[in-house]
Amino acid sequence: MFSLLFVALVALTGRVLALSFSCSEFTSKIDAQATNVAHITLNFTGSGTVRVAGSWDIAFRFCQPLLTKLDTSSTLQVLGSGATYTKEYWHLSYKPEDYDYQRHAAVAGYSTLAFDLLGAGASAKPDPFCVVQIPMNVAIATEIVKRVRGGTLTKALPAFSKIVYVGHSMGSVILNGIMVGSPSLIDAAVLTGYAHPSTDMPVHVPTVADGDIQIAATTFPRRFGSLDPGYTVIENRALFYGPNGTFDPKVFELDVATQDLVSVGDADTLNVGERLAADFTGPILSVEGDLDAGNCTPNCSNIPEEAAFYPRAASFDYVIIPNTGHVLNLHLTAPKTFAIILEWIKSQGF
Ligand SMILES: *[C@@H]1O[C@H](CO)[C@@H](O)[C@H](O)[C@H]1NC(C)=O
Ligand SMILES: *[C@@H]1O[C@H](CO)[C@@H](O)[C@H](O)[C@H]1NC(C)=O
Ligand SMILES: *[C@@H]1O[C@H](CO)[C@@H](O)[C@H](O)[C@H]1NC(C)=O
Repeated sequence: MFSLLFVALVALTGRVLALSFSCSEFTSKIDAQATNVAHITLNFTGSGTVRVAGSWDIAFRFCQPLLTKLDTSSTLQVLGSGATYTKEYWHLSYKPEDYDYQRHAAVAGYSTLAFDLLGAGASAKPDPFCVVQIPMNVAIATEIVKRVRGGTLTKALPAFSKIVYVGHSMGSVILNGIMVGSPSLIDAAVLTGYAHPSTDMPVHVPTVADGDIQIAATTFPRRFGSLDPGYTVIENRALFYGPNGTFDPKVFELDVATQDLVSVGDADTLNVGERLAADFTGPILSVEGDLDAGNCTPNCSNIPEEAAFYPRAASFDYVIIPNTGHVLNLHLTAPKTFAIILEWIKSQGF
């Protein structure tokens, strides 16, 4: 475990204010068990169920403001990244003043905990067919939230009594899975780059055979040559972006160079996490890019209808970000998106 101290100078209303926050990275063993889908292979999406249990290394980054504000000090934002992305999605190394969500949150007074999903980044990479599936990643995320509430994830973290979970894409699918299975564990939910499959957008499972995903070991042998073929990549990164002019080409290059993995098991079980969250009673914010073809039907008219999937939620708010594709944090609009999310969290009393 190591710690980094960032000292940023922030120009504020004509004067310069020194702001400090610190981040630490660590790995914790998380025990979890789940009912996964059985018999998934490279070309077969499986059938039946299988009970899977284990204990896996999960990689975390925790950031906290050095000057805690009383009204935000008991809140932790848990940040869940999407398929083929890692916790770096929340902590971009390039132009952090624009693209680093953990830094923006710290400036607003919030502690944040980002982590790599099972099967991605620096977390463990067990069997990508049988083990690394949405039900297991939901079980792991559930266990993580329980442990941060109890203050037992690691000595570096105090216990937090309020949890706001911010998900992106598959990270939002997993968040929705927690809202279905353990609805009282999370106080507020921010779902980004995510909508339930609508009648306008038929459910499509990405497969190697269709060319939607590619076997990581053969596509990038230098980075992923030792991995099981059930670990895949999505080489066409442009899918996640709006047209040229909506993002900085250097961010795109960084994405191409650092793109990560999605297991066939996760890709085949996305729908398991997308059920109606009948008993979630906290407030919900949905944030979508207007150019996210996979989640916004023309003009994002499906997003207001998402409220129907959360019948007991305290409130359902949504914001459509113009000129923005699927990976909201990586577009030119990122600072605006961050401000909207952080202001909403504060407006809900967290
Ligand atoms: C799975 O599909 C790929 C792509 O069509 C094909 O190359 C491969 O032989 C198939 N594998 C099996 C085990 O059927
Ligand atoms: C977008 O920009 C990239 C790099 O600058 C270029 O290769 C590509 O052709 C451009 N795409 C379009 C549709 O203009
Ligand atoms: C979307 O909005 C544009 C501009 O307001 C309008 O011309 C178009 O008809 C809308 N499309 C749909 C499907 O509602």
